[in-house]
Amino acid sequence: MSKKRVAVLISGRGSNLQALLDAKQDVYEIVLVLANVPGALGLERARAAGVEALTLDHKPYGKNREAFERELNALLIARNIDIIALAGFMRVLTPYFVREWAGRMINIHPSLLPKYPGTRTHERALEANDAEHGCTVHVVVEEVDAGEMLGQERLRINPGDTPEILATRVLELEHQLYPRCLTEFASRV
Ligand code: GAR
Repeated sequence: MSKKRVAVLISGRGSNLQALLDAKQDVYEIVLVLANVPGALGLERARAAGVEALTLDHKPYGKNREAFERELNALLIARNIDIIALAGFMRVLTPYFVREWAGRMINIHPSLLPKYPGTRTHERALEANDAEHGCTVHVVVEEVDAGEMLGQERLRINPGDTPEILATRVLELEHQLYPRCLTEFASRV
C-alpha cells in the first residue's frame, strides 16, 4: 500500500511538525508544509528535512477567508494531498474548506476536549482548578475543536503549575500523541 501524502499546515514554531517529521513515516509521508505566516519557524524545519515549504499569507485576502482557502485548496490538490494535519495552524477554517476535506483533515489541540475549545486552554484549566489537563487529536469538522477524537494524552496538574509550565508539559505529550494518531488515521483512511 502506498504511503498517504500528508500536508502539514502551520502558523509558527512547528514543534509538532518536527515530531511528525521525526516519527517513523511508515504509512504517511509529509510532502508539503504550508504556513499562513511569512517567516514561520516551522518552514525552516521542513526545508531541513527536505520537504517542500510554502507560504500562503492570508493577509492580502483580508476578510475574504474563502478566497484564501480556494488558493490553499488548489495548492493541495496540485500536490495530490491525501491528508491535512493542522499543527498550530491558528486560523479558523470556513465550512467550504472543511467540507472539501471532510474526513481527511485532523488537528491537535492543547486541552482534554470537549473541555476548553478555543484559546487560553492552560489558563482555563488552572482557573477551573482542574486536577488533570492534556491534549487531544481530533478529526476537523465545522464546529471549532469538535469532531471525532482520535486520541488524548493527560497529565496531573501540580501545585505551582503556571500556564507557561503547563504549556511546556502538555507540548511534550503532544509530540508523543500526534505521530501516533496520524499513523493510525493514515492507516484507516
Ligand atoms: C500547540 O500547543 C498546539 O496544540 C496549539 O498550538 C501549539 C503549536 O505549537 N494549537 C492550537 O491551539 C490550535 N487551536 P507548535 O507550533 O510548536 O507545534
